Amino acid sequence: MVSSTKRVRLGRTGVEVSSISVGTWAHGGPNVAGGTSVGWGGHDDGDAQDALLYAFEHGLDHWDTADVYGNGHAETLIGELWDRVPREKVFLASKVGWDPGPHGHYYHPTYMRRQVERSLRNLKTDVIDLHYLHHCDFGPDDRHFEPALEQLRAFQAEGKIRFIGLSDWSPARMMRFIDRVDPDVVQPYRNVQDDTWESSGLAAWVREHDIGAAFFSPLKHGLLLGKYERPTRFEEGDFRRNVPGFEDPAVIEQMKQARDALIGHFAGHPQPVLHGVVGALLTGCPTACVLLGMRNRRQAEAACQVGEALSSADAEWVKSRYQPES
Ligand SMILES: NC(=O)c1ccc[n+]([C@@H]2O[C@H](COP(=O)([O-])OP(=O)(O)OC[C@H]3O[C@@H](n4cnc5c(N)ncnc54)[C@H](OP(=O)(O)O)[C@@H]3O)[C@@H](O)[C@H]2O)c1
Repeated sequence: MVSSTKRVRLGRTGVEVSSISVGTWAHGGPNVAGGTSVGWGGHDDGDAQDALLYAFEHGLDHWDTADVYGNGHAETLIGELWDRVPREKVFLASKVGWDPGPHGHYYHPTYMRRQVERSLRNLKTDVIDLHYLHHCDFGPDDRHFEPALEQLRAFQAEGKIRFIGLSDWSPARMMRFIDRVDPDVVQPYRNVQDDTWESSGLAAWVREHDIGAAFFSPLKHGLLLGKYERPTRFEEGDFRRNVPGFEDPAVIEQMKQARDALIGHFAGHPQPVLHGVVGALLTGCPTACVLLGMRNRRQAEAACQVGEALSSADAEWVKSRYQPES
């Protein structure tokens, strides 16, 4: 295996993974749940598996998926690859919690068990290396929190999962539960426009407890690359139709300006924009990796060319390019 990206230790797990890790949400394809678009348009199974194979061959050995990505489809695509990729060489992460199920709340223990067993079957594996509570909405008075955590710990005791993870779009919401979960790895939303990871106290907690972190949506689903020439409306089933920036002419213009600035600043780097927006997240975070969505071989090739942390000065400069204009 050729290792072309940096390695990071996911804190006290002691596990080393590539600083650029592979996100597979888009591999689930278009999807609508509860009337809301929650998937990705423009998906192709062959392209997605090509991306995974290229990524593995070039050292990206931490793959992130979830039971709900295409209702198990993204997991199934991974499970089909074990004749070409040695299972034990991939650090495999999945999640439970966003499938509403029939019990009136997401984290019903019986339904969690059904979902985790389905994930194991889809992924064609006996054990999932890291399993997350996918979000921190535990119902009125957090009444479903303790049973959900207990269930996750039961999976661990049964050998179905190795490490426990905690995720949410809001780092502040994660902070309400982090002491009680004491996770091995956290998975917060983070990109160069949003640093609630620091302001919420989550970054400090991660440092103090020496746990791993995996930042999700580092490109804000592609928007931060400045690759959109004009405002874009996505098709039904593609969650990006719910993200206002894609349709906002002023945002699209700012992203193009930021792109051009990064191309100038990191001239000479083969992926100046990707290097800037992703490398800024790795600065000062020695136990963190970035979960980069890659849906085809071309994107996996680009991903394999980045993964170095920027200097503090460069990281601040990059973030300043992306701040909303006042
Ligand atoms: N825990 C959670 O609640 C949660 C939530 C969201 C995501 N995640 C995880 O984090 C991962 C990444 O986040 P994300 O999927 O939101 O997206 P992202 O990493 O912010 O953006 C990925 C998208 O950007 C575009 N892209 C990537 N590389 C590119 C390149 N080199 N050139 C041009 N376009 C490129 C691709 O979309 P196009 O080709 O369509 O432009 C790709 O699907 C997910 O896959 C998932 O594993 C977790």
